[in-house]
Amino acid sequence: MEVTFNLNGKTTKASCTPTETLLDFLRERRGLTGTKEGCNEGDCGACTVMVEDARGRRALNACILFLPQLQGAKVTTVEGLSDGDNLHPVQSAMIEEHGSQCGFCTPGIVMSLATAHANGATDHEDVLAGNLCRCTGYAPILRAAAKAAKTPAPMGAAEGIPAPALVERPESADELAALYALKPDATLIAGATDVGLWVTKKLEQPEEVIFLAGVQDLNYVSDTGNALEIGATTPIADLIAPMRTLCPSLAEMYRRFASAQIRAAATLGGNIANGSPIGDSPPPFIAAEATLTLRKGEERRTIALEDFFIAYGKQDRAPAEFVESITIPKAPLDDLRVYKLSKRFDQDISAVCGAFNLTVEDDTITAARIAFGGMAATPKRASAVEAALTGKPFTMDTITAALPAFAEDYQPMSDMRASAEYRLKTAQNMLVRYFSERTQGVPSVLEVTP
Ligand code: FAD
Ligand code: FES
Ligand code: FES
Repeated sequence: MEVTFNLNGKTTKASCTPTETLLDFLRERRGLTGTKEGCNEGDCGACTVMVEDARGRRALNACILFLPQLQGAKVTTVEGLSDGDNLHPVQSAMIEEHGSQCGFCTPGIVMSLATAHANGATDHEDVLAGNLCRCTGYAPILRAAAKAAKTPAPMGAAEGIPAPALVERPESADELAALYALKPDATLIAGATDVGLWVTKKLEQPEEVIFLAGVQDLNYVSDTGNALEIGATTPIADLIAPMRTLCPSLAEMYRRFASAQIRAAATLGGNIANGSPIGDSPPPFIAAEATLTLRKGEERRTIALEDFFIAYGKQDRAPAEFVESITIPKAPLDDLRVYKLSKRFDQDISAVCGAFNLTVEDDTITAARIAFGGMAATPKRASAVEAALTGKPFTMDTITAALPAFAEDYQPMSDMRASAEYRLKTAQNMLVRYFSERTQGVPSVLEVTP
């Protein structure tokens, strides 16, 4: 297929297979080797580039970014950052602050920081969570980021970007529904943060694909009064701000979801539709009684999110049916807490993700919704624990008495992330934490206090 986008200020046309990555295109076809290949799976950030399109200006990992996702976009690599005469302020500051040693990670770090610089973002620790540096240490890099933030950046003018529509890239939900009806076997590709790894790591080549990057009418968070309706192509990054006020615990979980680059690409629809037992969105959304709207052609149906996950690798989704939106009622968000346990604080998939939503009236638990990821073959409610809590006084005795019920609900597996015993124990501990947090408040584990 033919893709047109703007690369470092110049209109660029590329004939490509649907799953050719931007990283391969840059390095092998354009000789732009400043963009490095480290992990080739979205983890290290060495391949970070800046992308501007209808979704705004974002740092993305080129290693899991397919060229057709870039139709009509503006791409800046580290080679295109300076104006020809002067280094970008981030580049200058990295030199002045000694922010680089071996330098392999440096182009990606520079691109993440340059994107933050252009967006006026100064949360540099979060910005760099997806950029691994093994030599320098982050202190000089963070000093460089802070220094560069004080200097405006010269950015060259870009040529206009002619962007003819691509057959495999519908531009609306209606077009997607019609195309998918014609090609029900096609693989939908939204952010490609899962699908990208099927290609780069499992060496799979989906025969037919439909890209969702152009479906902007499903990229929205809409407040309907009692609920938030979220379109399926909304990036995870866009969920943090609305959740900061509605449910700070969920916002904090999303801050720790992967890295800035992955959050900017990954969509909520993809996080649910992939059916992963360790996806971070399903547990809190199930605990908050979220519903899913599925669409096939002109037909829509709405189901409880928990009913979508039937078994490992099996979801309640018919051929040509896609996730259109997710609706989360606002009221349960007041009592909802979500706890993500992973080996690394940032940029790591959960070993266990627990979400708790207990309704307490007159010191009695009148309703309980608890859901976990990482404990079963699908995201799953803790029905036995819920039953052990409901109707009981909201006391530590009740919590303690309910803990054995976890073993009825879950028989978790042991894998590289955690053993079965550890998973069960931490799930129980999360309930204790929830109780402590709601009754006493819990000090932040991030703060060291005397
Ligand atoms: P894609 O890769 O585009 O698609 C995923 C699946 O969903 C495919 O089967 C696709 O066909 C299908 N699909 C996509 N959209 C739709 C739709 N609208 N309707 C029907 N089917 C659809 N996940 C976490 O939960 N927490 C993490 O901390 C986390 N960290 C990660 C870190 C790294 C480095 C990487 C590479 C991934 C990580 N992930 C994590 C996994 C991934 O980012 C998420 O699952 C993401 O939300 C997937 O969304 P996507 O838009 O990229 O999906
Ligand atoms: Fe590691 Fe792309 S090469 S994130
Ligand atoms: Fe060597 Fe960062 S300078 S990995």
